[in-house]
Amino acid sequence: MISRIKDVIDPKKIDYIISNHVEMDHSGSLPKILNYAQNAKIITSTRGEKGLIRHYKDNWDLKVVKSNDKLNIGKRNLNFVEIPMVHWPDSMVTYSPYDKILLPNDAFGQHIASSKRFDDELDWGILKEEAAKYYANIVMPFGGQVEKALEGLSGLDIDMIAPSHGLIWRSHISEILNEYKKWSTYENDKKALIVYDSMWGSTEKIALKLQEGIEKAGINVTMKNLKTNHISDIITEVLTSRLILIGSPTLNNTMLPTMGGFLTYMKGLRPKNKVGFVFGSFGWGGQAVGEIEKILKELSWELPLKSINLNYIPDDDELANVEQIGEELVKYI
Ligand code: FEO
Repeated sequence: MISRIKDVIDPKKIDYIISNHVEMDHSGSLPKILNYAQNAKIITSTRGEKGLIRHYKDNWDLKVVKSNDKLNIGKRNLNFVEIPMVHWPDSMVTYSPYDKILLPNDAFGQHIASSKRFDDELDWGILKEEAAKYYANIVMPFGGQVEKALEGLSGLDIDMIAPSHGLIWRSHISEILNEYKKWSTYENDKKALIVYDSMWGSTEKIALKLQEGIEKAGINVTMKNLKTNHISDIITEVLTSRLILIGSPTLNNTMLPTMGGFLTYMKGLRPKNKVGFVFGSFGWGGQAVGEIEKILKELSWELPLKSINLNYIPDDDELANVEQIGEELVKYI
């Protein structure tokens, strides 16, 4: 990075470094960069200043900017817009009207490794999926703040959005803005997701019958077994699924640890506007189902039908009933 900067300018001649966001994936190299750019002033938001001081405990030359402040750097006047909680309280974006480039830091990012640089060099489907995964796992709890940020950016004339993660948007700008609008308002697609784990196969039998019932009623179902899917990929599906079914057997008087981990993670991301359903199996006790219900209720999900909790191994009649419940659930989405 230093060598690339040196290709353009002697680092000693750099007047300003803009710190749009304190989180260390963006600020972690500042101490080293300042060894080269010894004369640079750091531009940051009010909360950015506090955050940088707490992180680096150094006497840096900091200049605080607020929304609508401008910074002249020659032929360019850089504008700043604070976008608190997208992703941290200090987050802000920088906009260059001269270039019509928006530098939104975390917003519109993707966690993708690619040799490509621009959105039109990769398939839109891949990029949309990666942007959704990023949003779901990083930004989902802050829908209201994202809506406000989008309003704040709505008047800007933008040719390019260059986030600090992933590829640069230049051909799909309206599409990614539309996706953000949809995600920030917790709009769902009419589809179902079944997240489950199984110990001896009974909960999986129930999961597969629920899938059959839902598909019979004409709704697509995505199956996510916790043994073979990473929780960040499951959360991507949670983002836009209207109907979400969660299943675990009871082990040692509680749900399986994989389900405990997943629900802890999902609860923190606070997905909204969902219809839920809980299922499981047990030998004795059977506490897992009630514990899962409790978490879904805390998230204010609708739970229109009574959960399924079957003893040991489900028989044919029970499985036929499970399939019917799957069909029935579709009425609530
Ligand atoms: Fe909130 Fe990319 O850090």
